[in-house]
Amino acid sequence: MREEIKNTFRSRFQQEPVVVRSPGRVNLIGEHTDYNEGFVLPAAINKEVYFALAPNHTTAMRAYAYNLQQEAKFDLDHVKPSDIGWANYLLGVVAQLQQAGHQVKGFDVVFGGDIPIGAGLSSSAAVECGLAFALNHVFDLGIPKLDLVKMAQLAEHTYAGVKCGIMDQFASMFGKESHVVKLDCRSLDYTYYHLGMADYRIVLLDTQVKHNLASSEYNTRRQECETGVALLHAHYPQVNSLRETTMPMLERHKAEFDPVVWKRCAYVVQENARVEKACQALERDDMQTFGQMMYASHEGLQHDYEVSCPELDFLVEQARPQEAVLGARMMGGGFGGCTINLVKLEALDAFTQQMQVAYQQRFGIELKTYVAEIVDGSSLA
Ligand code: GLA
Repeated sequence: MREEIKNTFRSRFQQEPVVVRSPGRVNLIGEHTDYNEGFVLPAAINKEVYFALAPNHTTAMRAYAYNLQQEAKFDLDHVKPSDIGWANYLLGVVAQLQQAGHQVKGFDVVFGGDIPIGAGLSSSAAVECGLAFALNHVFDLGIPKLDLVKMAQLAEHTYAGVKCGIMDQFASMFGKESHVVKLDCRSLDYTYYHLGMADYRIVLLDTQVKHNLASSEYNTRRQECETGVALLHAHYPQVNSLRETTMPMLERHKAEFDPVVWKRCAYVVQENARVEKACQALERDDMQTFGQMMYASHEGLQHDYEVSCPELDFLVEQARPQEAVLGARMMGGGFGGCTINLVKLEALDAFTQQMQVAYQQRFGIELKTYVAEIVDGSSLA
């Protein structure tokens, strides 16, 4: 892939580019907790996007989307959202750099990769982080990586219209080979945990569906959480997010809550506790307990947070009785995309084949499967 992107750049733009690689992500546990100032446990994976980029000594960006085989040109003196969907992920990043007072000179860019789109592996975050990383390098802007992450997240808010948390962009930029990263989304402190993969693999089962509820329901969930926090804040001035909330507080004031809002809040409080328990299990190399936390996370997402769908639930139900599967759950925003499964190595092929057959029989859809390897975050390539 790297060579294809680089060669395409050379032949289209007749010069030598800098090449940057930026990965998609998985999340082991800690779902819908990031925008509630809680904990997440993602990792960068070997589904990646490559950027070939060089200055062009004009005031325009000329961009070529390799996978779509489309080129577009934009004036960098007047950056604004475009009708061309893919270009917005690039323009959003340029706009953020400019707003932070950086001068972005004209450049040519070719980008493309193998992160499936709409599968919940954060292809958009990989694109945003990759361009931010490449421009920072090529124009020597000296921006710390964490600030690039925040700009990439704001690009998603303003140019893609999704009020996402910080997890995806953070994972794409700060991923580390063979490690998951526990991020505290309030302080932005983070800790790497080694994931010994001698005996098992991370298997992604891609439902191939994306119900169109995804982005509207995402923003609704954020609001429901904010409603719950406002209610508790009136009683507990120190509570400014669900991070500071405890189950006893929720129990005590249950009668004042709309039942749906209460369920949402309870899920988030419990999911934060599960991330802590999962990390303690990792420290003891206790993958059985880790897997149990994953199943419990799915239960909460299915029944209390209500962001799952029949296809995801089916895949988790099929995985659950299998001795070879330590844990399984839906991953990411929900309403489609992938489940993440921890599967014993010796049963890998049998498991994926069995799931493909079962999914085909139940939904008439071909299940795609990926074995994810954990790689470093955005880097020169
Ligand atoms: C999407 C968002 C993330 C996070 C997850 C749910 O991937 O982009 O910020 O909120 O959903 O955990």
